[in-house]
Amino acid sequence: MAQLWGGRFTKETDQLVYNFNASISFDKKLYAQDIRGSIAHVMMLAKQGILTDIEKEQIIDGLEGILSDVEKGKLKISDAYEDIHSFVEATLIARIGDAGKKLHTGRSRNDQVALDMKLYTRDEITQISHLLEELLRAILAIMEEHMETVMPGFTHLQKAQPITLAHHMGAYFEMFKRDHERMRDIYKRMNTCPLGSGALAGTTYPLDREYTAQLLGFDGPTLNSMDGVSDRDYLIELMSALSIVMMHLSRFSEEVILWNSNEYQFVEIDDAYSTGSSIMPQKKNPDIAELVRGKTGRVYGALMSLLTTMKGIPLAYNKDMQEDKEMCFDAMDTAKGCIALFTGMLRTMQFQTERMEKSARQGFTNATDAADYLVNHGVPFRDAHGIVGRLVLYCIEKNIGLDDMTLEEYREISPVFEEDIFDAISLETCVNKRVTVGAPGKTAMKQAIKLYKQYLREARRKEEWNRN
Ligand code: ARG
Repeated sequence: MAQLWGGRFTKETDQLVYNFNASISFDKKLYAQDIRGSIAHVMMLAKQGILTDIEKEQIIDGLEGILSDVEKGKLKISDAYEDIHSFVEATLIARIGDAGKKLHTGRSRNDQVALDMKLYTRDEITQISHLLEELLRAILAIMEEHMETVMPGFTHLQKAQPITLAHHMGAYFEMFKRDHERMRDIYKRMNTCPLGSGALAGTTYPLDREYTAQLLGFDGPTLNSMDGVSDRDYLIELMSALSIVMMHLSRFSEEVILWNSNEYQFVEIDDAYSTGSSIMPQKKNPDIAELVRGKTGRVYGALMSLLTTMKGIPLAYNKDMQEDKEMCFDAMDTAKGCIALFTGMLRTMQFQTERMEKSARQGFTNATDAADYLVNHGVPFRDAHGIVGRLVLYCIEKNIGLDDMTLEEYREISPVFEEDIFDAISLETCVNKRVTVGAPGKTAMKQAIKLYKQYLREARRKEEWNRN
């Protein structure tokens, strides 16, 4: 048992209590952030004359040595310490002696852990943004290639109207673009430095909090020390945004699973992203998509867990808040893994464009356009709807499509039909006449693609928001 606070205690902590309380098994993930924060803290203490320059050099050398030894695997983070903060401080003191004992001047583990967690989360947000950009690029590549690939659009999982594969993919581009924007919003709102908040009420040392904030790439210090140590909103926001990312990935996975099924055969998932069955030799299962869909629950779980943990906590720091880590770390790792794998699966997936077009031809996806034809010839829409309904019924009985009917058959049901009905209900016309903003027609799609390309170009340029 190694802890920082033995002084006022006369008995050893019970081993079970110690184990229950300790967080090193999971907060060791924060070692780099903990050391980075400590270096900034020490630089500020020396600048303010609270530490001498010699002490500063010794401590920073010591901390850098610990960082590089941990990274090289020469120093193992031992579970014998209560948490990562104790491990770093105790190791520093063991290595450099008395100067190390001054590291914690004007600081509490409360503002320290608040800082570590923010630094960690900020890096994660940057990584997640980059992964989302890769996903957006993969979607955009499919869009550019398939502006003319007609497929059925569905409502209620029933064929509704013809669209293009580019248009369908564009819907996901919009979703993940919003997810990408959310990362940036969270980053901007969370980017304030809690270090210097102390345990809860600041400190009596003349700390320069602006300086520490600047050293660590924050926009400035947090403005209330009680909130500084106990704010976990940014994590809740991230968990919420990641839950939405997962919900989008899960919907997309569901479609990939359906499309990959024998019944649809719209896509074929690459062998590298499929798995076989131990008993049924013919099987090629979409396990990756299923796992992504399944892992969504874990990320939702992290959001619910943290919201629940935080709801009853009086100001300021309470130990409940240690529970912010395990599930959030897991959610971040899970979401990153899912985005990356999904992107890979998408990049290697084959689209069976002929099957898609054939499917769009069956199922009366052009019925609305037949009704619109009548409207354009002066028939009120409600009557047109009824006439086309009868056409569809006739086709179902004869087991044919609207395009297979003769003009005579059309005219028996309504004399308004002329020879040009066939052109009006061809799938190509149905798609390409839809050119209002956001529609699947080629002109509209080209415009959307142009804007999406611009968005991705600017996403990289605007990277000053995560300059740290
Ligand atoms: N392990 C703690 C956490 O994750 C660090 C802060 C401890 N502070 C305290 N006063 N016990 O929240």
